[in-house]
Amino acid sequence: MGGAGSGASFTNNVKALVKLKLLMRVVGKQFEPTTETTFLGKKISMPIMAASVTGVNSFGGDNAITEKELCRAIVLGCKKAGTIGFRGDTYTYSLENSFGIDAIAEADGWGIKIVKPREQRVINDFYKKAEKAKAIAVGIDVDGCGSLIMAKHGKHVFNKTIDDLKELKKATKLPFIVKGLMYAEDAKKAVEAGADVIVVSNHGGRVLDHSPGTAEVLPKVVTELKGKTTILVDGGIRTGYDVLKMLALGADGVLIGRDVIRAAVGGGIDGVYRIMDHFQKTLKKAMKMTACKTIQEISSDIIYSEA
Ligand SMILES: Cc1cc2nc3c(=O)[nH]c(=O)nc-3n(C[C@H](O)[C@H](O)[C@H](O)COP(=O)(O)O)c2cc1C
Repeated sequence: MGGAGSGASFTNNVKALVKLKLLMRVVGKQFEPTTETTFLGKKISMPIMAASVTGVNSFGGDNAITEKELCRAIVLGCKKAGTIGFRGDTYTYSLENSFGIDAIAEADGWGIKIVKPREQRVINDFYKKAEKAKAIAVGIDVDGCGSLIMAKHGKHVFNKTIDDLKELKKATKLPFIVKGLMYAEDAKKAVEAGADVIVVSNHGGRVLDHSPGTAEVLPKVVTELKGKTTILVDGGIRTGYDVLKMLALGADGVLIGRDVIRAAVGGGIDGVYRIMDHFQKTLKKAMKMTACKTIQEISSDIIYSEA
């Protein structure tokens, strides 16, 4: 579950979050915060969802679970916690073996399918299958274009142009997500192509060594695009305190990868439910101590700055 090369991008995600400090604000009336919000028109219990992660066969040793079990644990565990599980794509996936979409169908469509930047026709076929499963949305992780493991197994991946993204958006009736954006100009192109949601992400530091932490690049994307699309972010988020920091920087919601994998491998559906519940509880605690009653009330005022 490591990062690319030296692991600098993965650690930069964590370090960027550690650098941000939360300002405690406690004088005022007694209140209990609520973490409920909406995402793509759906009510969710917290703005925290499970990231699209795959390839469980390649780690976990003797305790490894199958890809089908991973997908079921994440999609159904998130549903139980009142939030949404994203599902990803890797070389072991095909239209016949689409474990993520199967789990989404089992959850009556309560999940989201992200497909690698494969050939346009193949992506479309996955989207059609996700539509049949009544998925909430579909998307593409554009930063998967350099995946050596996909190429090694003959599943070719490509850079996508604005026109390619427009074509994908047009071909599906579901909301369209573009994941894997670190550069504000790329994010603007995704929105120009019609992305309903963008995900600021460096793939958990797994695709390019020495990239900045996502919390470092998020503010620029927010400045350019807040209100024009829904902005999600992931990378190094491990508690509700980290979630609160990302929301304060302007994200509309977050995704969490590695900790959800650990919960799925260790505890299945219930493990994922419990880790999501833990994230919600720590977010509530963080909101309570910074005087944020609702998700909508969270602003950059709670980030301590010496200026
Ligand atoms: C083992 C592993 C597999 C992943 N597989 C995918 C994938 O199939 N598709 C995708 O869009 N992202 C994939 N990612 C990236 C995650 O969706 C997410 O961006 C990242 O894990 C967030 O960082 P975090 O793990 O620090 O929370 C993967 C990440 C890990 C750790």
